[in-house]
Amino acid sequence: MKLSYLPTPLDEAPRLTTELAPLATGPLRILIKRDDLTGLAMGGNKARKLDFLMRDAVEKGCDTVVTAGGAQSNFARMTAAATAKLGMACHLVLTGDAPAHESGNILLDRIFGAELHFAGTDDWDVIWDEVKRIAADIGPKAYPMPIGGATPVGSLGYVAAADELLSQMDAPPDWIVTASSSGGTQAGLLAGLPREVRVLGIDVARPKTPLAISVLKLAAKTATLANRPPPAGDVIIADHCGPVYASITEEAQYAVRLAARTEALVLDPVYTGKAMAGLIAGVKSGQLSGTIVFLHTGGAPALFADEFAAF
Ligand SMILES: Cc1ncc(COP(=O)(O)O)c(C=O)c1O
Repeated sequence: MKLSYLPTPLDEAPRLTTELAPLATGPLRILIKRDDLTGLAMGGNKARKLDFLMRDAVEKGCDTVVTAGGAQSNFARMTAAATAKLGMACHLVLTGDAPAHESGNILLDRIFGAELHFAGTDDWDVIWDEVKRIAADIGPKAYPMPIGGATPVGSLGYVAAADELLSQMDAPPDWIVTASSSGGTQAGLLAGLPREVRVLGIDVARPKTPLAISVLKLAAKTATLANRPPPAGDVIIADHCGPVYASITEEAQYAVRLAARTEALVLDPVYTGKAMAGLIAGVKSGQLSGTIVFLHTGGAPALFADEFAAF
């Protein structure tokens, strides 16, 4: 069973590199790993996690997936799509109240046939309790999936992505820059990469448990599950969240426009725009130089959400 189209391309970004080179303190080469092109339901990083998570659900004999996310969650949209493709049912518990008009990822959730439950709150503990309640009501054929698919099983997708990326390059890159929220992507990369490749996770959600702690724990568990040595790289995080999760920041607006007009990339306001803002800031500060791979983790449907009309 394969939901994603792999390998995704690894592209040079010559015009973005030229634009940022004057800000850099050393040599600069930027490449883009196009995980926005993983294929499943408009693509994104979560397809790689869902390859493993959905297989686990099917092997456990489940016929319904229950998960949760922010109202404009990309993971929720892609889970809804994965269940549609596999003929399973899907329940999504989403933050906040039902919107008067459904747009962006919510519109797609509906089109894929998911049942939506608006939790009326942004409190993740309450939301996770609701996931467990719905799963318990459905019974043993329900597969509750943590927010963002951030489990060792899901993170196996990014151990495989690390192998894929290294196989596409003559020499390992100096840095990989990725948006990090539930931490599963960053954890999988850390579990799969050699120490010399540093991973910069751009914190876009500022979770209750600091990201560095959850990434470290998840990377260790993922490495064990993947039969790899314990992760050797440091957990490096930079905060570009803005005041709260999903808030519009000027630096992300600039980054989205810069990536669009130099490389025709479609980034998003919540994740990849902030990750690119983190890359620009890292180049400016001298933290990032050499060969940098920007992991494009998808997320474009949020650009068409009413919440971001002002973006
Ligand atoms: C587009 C996009 N990029 C990055 C991330 C962060 O990935 P992770 O949750 O694995 O940290 C997400 C998570 O929802 C996402 O939707």
